Amino acid sequence: MLPPLLLPSLLAGDHANLAASAAQVEQLGLQWLHVDIMDGHFVPNLTFGPEVLAALRRAGCKLSLDTHLMLDEPMRYVETFARAGANLISIHVEPAYDHRAVLKKIRELGCQNGIVLNPATPASAIERLLPFVDLVLVMTVQPGFGGQAFRHDLLPKIKQIDEWRQQHHHTFRLEVDGGVDLTTGPLCRAAGADAFVAGSAFFKAPDKAAFAAAVAKW
Ligand code: DX5
Ligand code: ZN
Repeated sequence: MLPPLLLPSLLAGDHANLAASAAQVEQLGLQWLHVDIMDGHFVPNLTFGPEVLAALRRAGCKLSLDTHLMLDEPMRYVETFARAGANLISIHVEPAYDHRAVLKKIRELGCQNGIVLNPATPASAIERLLPFVDLVLVMTVQPGFGGQAFRHDLLPKIKQIDEWRQQHHHTFRLEVDGGVDLTTGPLCRAAGADAFVAGSAFFKAPDKAAFAAAVAKW
């Protein structure tokens, strides 16, 4: 089992001072920051564009950026996000496009790739892609907004994907995103997850170091 990785979500950070929010994560010794990119089409909300990643880099942010593209046409943007400073780029399986080609393109751009499933999307939708990914992201809320309640009914999906991973000796990380906190995270861990995106739970935690230390023990 891979060690647990905590990825604070910048969506819950201070949008008037994103560099300061990223710096809080970096000061704790964490390696990753999760950055949610929404286009107002695939999800009914708007967040950050590539310029935000570039600005974080200019501000000295050394964190690895886990870039979650909630976009109808991710192929139009992967190159821009890679050049802006993304280290991992994940794309949703739901829109119709050549997923294999975009996953390959992300690696050619020097980034790790990831495939994401919405709550209503069955695990079977990504099964054929598992040999070609560095990360599978199981959404545990409907994407679009932070601060939503964790969906317990998605735990079996995490378990199924972990079982396939073990059966076929895949090495991808299995990430969960949405409503993950100190109560729901361990349930995901027990189901096989090893990467934990936390927005509200992390940025609202009175003691962020204690939060990170707790996740490290999962
Ligand atoms: C939701 C985003 C999440 C969000 C999670 O669409 O993909 O990354 O920031 O926020 P919390 O942890 O508050 O549910
Ligand atoms: Zn996300």
